[in-house]
Amino acid sequence: MVLTTLLLLGLLVGLAGSSPPPATVVCAHGTFDCTVSNAYGSFPDRTVCRAANATFPRTEKELVAAVAAAAAAKRKVKVATKHYHSFPKLACPGGSDGTIISTERLNRVVSIDVAKGLMTVESGMVLRDLIKKAAAKGFALPHSTYWSGLTIGGLLATGAHGSSLWGKGGAVHEYVVGMRIVTPAPASQGFAVVRELSADDPDLDAAKVSLGVLGVVSQVTLALQPMFKRSVTFVTCNDSDLAEQAAKWGKLHEFADMAWLPEQRKVIYRKDDRVAITSAGDGLNDYLPFRPNPTAALITARVTEELLEKNINAVARCKAANATVSLFERAAYGFTNNGSVFTGYPVVGFQHRMQASGSCVDSPGNTSCSWDPRTRGILLGNNGYSITLSRASAFIADMQQLRDRKPLAFCGIDAKLGILLRYVKASSAYLGKEEDSIDFDITYYRSFTKGEPNPHSDVLDELQQMALRKYGAMPHWGKNRNFAFEGAIDKYPKASKFFEVKGRYDSDGIFSSEWSDQVLGINGSPVIVEKRCAIEGLCVCSDDSHCAPEEGYYCQPGKVYTEARVCSFESAI
Ligand SMILES: Cc1cc2nc3c(=O)[nH]c(=O)nc-3n(C[C@H](O)[C@H](O)[C@H](O)COP(=O)(O)OP(=O)(O)OC[C@H]3O[C@@H](n4cnc5c(N)ncnc54)[C@H](O)[C@@H]3O)c2cc1C
Ligand SMILES: *[C@@H]1O[C@H](CO)[C@@H](O)[C@H](O)[C@H]1NC(C)=O
Ligand SMILES: *[C@@H]1O[C@H](CO)[C@@H](O)[C@H](O)[C@H]1NC(C)=O
Ligand SMILES: *[C@@H]1O[C@H](CO)[C@@H](O)[C@H](O)[C@H]1NC(C)=O
Ligand SMILES: *[C@@H]1O[C@H](CO)[C@@H](O)[C@H](O)[C@H]1NC(C)=O
Ligand SMILES: *[C@@H]1O[C@H](CO)[C@@H](O)[C@H](O)[C@H]1NC(C)=O
Repeated sequence: MVLTTLLLLGLLVGLAGSSPPPATVVCAHGTFDCTVSNAYGSFPDRTVCRAANATFPRTEKELVAAVAAAAAAKRKVKVATKHYHSFPKLACPGGSDGTIISTERLNRVVSIDVAKGLMTVESGMVLRDLIKKAAAKGFALPHSTYWSGLTIGGLLATGAHGSSLWGKGGAVHEYVVGMRIVTPAPASQGFAVVRELSADDPDLDAAKVSLGVLGVVSQVTLALQPMFKRSVTFVTCNDSDLAEQAAKWGKLHEFADMAWLPEQRKVIYRKDDRVAITSAGDGLNDYLPFRPNPTAALITARVTEELLEKNINAVARCKAANATVSLFERAAYGFTNNGSVFTGYPVVGFQHRMQASGSCVDSPGNTSCSWDPRTRGILLGNNGYSITLSRASAFIADMQQLRDRKPLAFCGIDAKLGILLRYVKASSAYLGKEEDSIDFDITYYRSFTKGEPNPHSDVLDELQQMALRKYGAMPHWGKNRNFAFEGAIDKYPKASKFFEVKGRYDSDGIFSSEWSDQVLGINGSPVIVEKRCAIEGLCVCSDDSHCAPEEGYYCQPGKVYTEARVCSFESAI
């Protein structure tokens, strides 16, 4: 994900003070009349999420009491986390009379079993703290998301992952060997119980990736590995054989991934393997887009980006993208060999310094994460979907055809450092991947104005419709806009097992919301049909009014996947 040259030039400026991310739960009166926002301050449908009240339990006992209070009153309840980095309205209880349980204060290590390599943490613990605490005892979490500002409870809920086809694979839930989850219960049991799920409990396959609809995860036990080092080299190649390489690359390197720059016709292959702990090197991954950004630079960058994005003529946008990519390449994407200077590949370092980053969570004064809504700098959309390994090559070939038809429309993707391809293995989790897959991740510019069309976004919509409909892609639960989730649950053969557990754990459905019911196909559809709905990704257009005919955007078939229906500005180049 990223930005413009201007912004990057400002990255090294340091200022005093402090602006970590804003609170996600804000209440008008004490713990009543609350709103819940994600880290970007914007949901796909741009509505505000309200809750009647919120609790911030500090212990499992307080957590049980909070669930019991909601269950006794049959009130809707949702879990919010410290930073709420999902894009959809997953943590919104719906209506305005629901309750929020925040895991912000459930952030401690419960125990570390050094002999067995097991670590138990409270569910609100932020990934970077978890990684640090494990490292202090000589252990590593073998795979994680690349962004470390997520909580363990939240990232598990959406099936979040890094990239690997080796061993158990790149998804964090594969390393979960136990959980404690608080669910509603009958009055005779005090309205709430703690269920302890051990490694051999089949319910763990429901609780590991639960979308938060089973209850509140109180604690998670992870199987760690002794600390190891890895060696990373980024190799840039042309993209002519990407379809073929993508099927192989993940088998060659344990932490392989690929960033594809469609307009530049380049692929940045991540050659990343475990090496002996004795290998020299103290490398650090402090990924550029996840560093603190000066507020002034963010505002300037946004002004520039808006000019480029709204311009029908894409050439300037492509030049800017090119400059950004060059800058990133030269800066080794934020990797350094010793924590301060990049001297060349490979970068060798300890797993806990290489696996994830997120220094903007500690942003000093007048700086912030680039997406901080208080700055009104960057506003991003994020599409993420996975396609089985056996079909991914054909999808890539189709994407390349579309690129060949409209190359300059892809510069917005290049500007955010391309489409990130990551490997995720088949999982026993009921809402995890059914087969070994490649996850395609695209970050893109989003307007602050609802319904404002973008001359180049038709390719994003065609790619996503092609992925979902032609290639049976599964949308990432924590990303995407509404239309992507229509029928998503039908792609999960083990969904009925998940619903069986949901029925037992939460028979009154207090952990269900309008959104989760729509996404899980329980009640209603996540699609919203209204004027300009396709511009916002709330629907797939079937009528010009779903686009912006007043501004020259009409509902048109896709260029390569002709079954797609996208909002096209015909004279756009
Ligand atoms: C910059 C950035 C980088 C990202 N990188 C990656 C990546 O590398 N890989 C990847 O897969 N994803 C990535 N994501 C997406 C992210 O992993 C998911 O959106 C993740 O679910 C967010 O975790 P969170 O802690 O913010 O949880 P939230 O978004 O706050 O919550 C997610 C869901 O979990 C529920 N929940 C949270 N805690 C609990 C609990 N204790 N018990 C029950 N339910 C709970 C919430 O109610 C909600 O339904 C990234 C997102 C951003 C913004
Ligand atoms: C932040 O910026 C404002 C003006 O842009 C300035 O007045 C203030 O001193 C700055 N604060 C810090 C801590 O740098
Ligand atoms: C939230 O409010 C409802 C009623 O308005 C009440 O039943 C519930 O106990 C409250 N919960 C907390 C934690 O205050
Ligand atoms: C891409 O690179 C391969 C070698 O890696 C080369 O054979 C091929 O000609 C290149 N294609 C283009 C279009 O440059
Ligand atoms: C992108 O920049 C490189 C130099 O960094 C240059 O060779 C290339 O022609 C540029 N491409 C475009 C489309 O501007
Ligand atoms: C990293 O290496 C550079 C030169 O190679 C050196 O100047 C710098 O002090 C080193 N930094 C650390 C933290 O070791």
